[in-house]
Amino acid sequence: MSCCSNPSQYQPSNPISDNDIVKAVNDAYSAKAKVGTTTTYAKNVAESFGYTEEELKSIPDEAHLGLSCGNPVATANIKEGEVVLDLGSSGGIDVFLAASKVGPTGQAIGLDMSTDMINLARKNANKQNLLPPRVSFVQTLLTEDLPVVSDSVDVILSNCVINLLPLAGKAKVLKEAHRVLKPGGRIVLDDIVAKEPLPENVRNDLSAYVGCISGAIELNEYKKLLEDAGFKNSLFVDTKSNLNVYYTAGSSTDKSTIGCCSPAPKSESVNAPPSFDANLWVASYQIYATKEGTPDPNAEKLETALLRSWDAYPRPQSTPAAVTADEIAKLVRDASKTPSDFAVIDVRRNDYAGGHVRGSHQHAAQTFYDNLSAFTEKFGKTNQVIFYCQSSNGRGPRCAAWYQDYLNQIGNEESTAYVLQGGIKGWLSKFGGQNDLIDRD
Ligand SMILES: C[S@@+](CC[C@H](N)C(=O)[O-])C[C@H]1O[C@@H](n2cnc3c(N)ncnc32)[C@H](O)[C@@H]1O
Repeated sequence: MSCCSNPSQYQPSNPISDNDIVKAVNDAYSAKAKVGTTTTYAKNVAESFGYTEEELKSIPDEAHLGLSCGNPVATANIKEGEVVLDLGSSGGIDVFLAASKVGPTGQAIGLDMSTDMINLARKNANKQNLLPPRVSFVQTLLTEDLPVVSDSVDVILSNCVINLLPLAGKAKVLKEAHRVLKPGGRIVLDDIVAKEPLPENVRNDLSAYVGCISGAIELNEYKKLLEDAGFKNSLFVDTKSNLNVYYTAGSSTDKSTIGCCSPAPKSESVNAPPSFDANLWVASYQIYATKEGTPDPNAEKLETALLRSWDAYPRPQSTPAAVTADEIAKLVRDASKTPSDFAVIDVRRNDYAGGHVRGSHQHAAQTFYDNLSAFTEKFGKTNQVIFYCQSSNGRGPRCAAWYQDYLNQIGNEESTAYVLQGGIKGWLSKFGGQNDLIDRD
């Protein structure tokens, strides 16, 4: 099954559950992220939906996989310093183009449920040295609460994604989009819209769903979802794009000409051209809407619009062991007499009231992941590297785990990450008056 293949070929089937839809879509795009596509195919599809050669040259080839059905950045009038959120960001094409418009004072954030897509996008971002908070990719379901601060985003983009969500998920993500937009913020979506009611058997066909047909809703229904979510002034523009391009964009030997939204990149059937004109059933629309109000000129400029800044990095895999304050106190005291092989790392966030563990090094948790290589160069030969934050519940264990993951990845067995049990809070309540154990700023 490929995007836009003939609905009439489907036999009646049982209704598919929302979970089945999300799982099938995730499997298909994760496979796509791993298999990739050819530069020619991706370029041909992108250009047919309005991306310029110059835009495509400005981003890594792997950032676009021929999955778009429009170019929302081109019409979103994105300005320097703005915060842009892309729903279903795949390899990152629209996030990178938006990032160059918002510049270093803005933020471009991509959300996608596929871990493989997120990994690919982060790899592409690293190639361009685009790091959080300027460019972030976060793995999340669009059918759940978005991990984004309310009233924090200027522009929401989405390119060929909303049609892939179950109906309840479409309603949910539009409500969430409305929540996270600043007053006066705008949404610019490129999406597939059904031209007429689709037969029940098509609606209930999972492969047709993944293939961008079953999930396409009609314009009036889309409009209603936007209104119910709180949006005003919605505008729908039929881009008149040729949706058969997914089947014609590759060369005859190009095995990756699998089309937008195809569920199984390596299957034979998805390489076959459709037996009918896809443009008869569905169309590609550009959809605009705004959130009422005007931006608050006194609103605090957030360092990141993400609710949790660490979402922009891989989930830690390791679970470093905890060491007690008494054990570390002994190390600190003995270190003044004999050479020692440990280091204590403070990854708190500027709240240094009360002091630090004696001899500890300060490293910012927000940028810790991006500096792992330099950090390891400094501490990779130190036997025990002990991390702490306020209570050692969040940043401390997270940075320790990232460090241990990195050590594992590079095969370093000389150094091991640990966490100070109870964090600086526990340390100060135990040793607060003992100057040989505390450094003060
Ligand atoms: C057709 S691709 C669009 C890619 C991208 N916007 C582009 O233009 O290249 C759809 C993307 O949306 C993501 N997606 C689909 N359903 C999702 C969901 N329920 N939650 C999060 N991401 C989803 C997929 O993983 C996939 O990367």
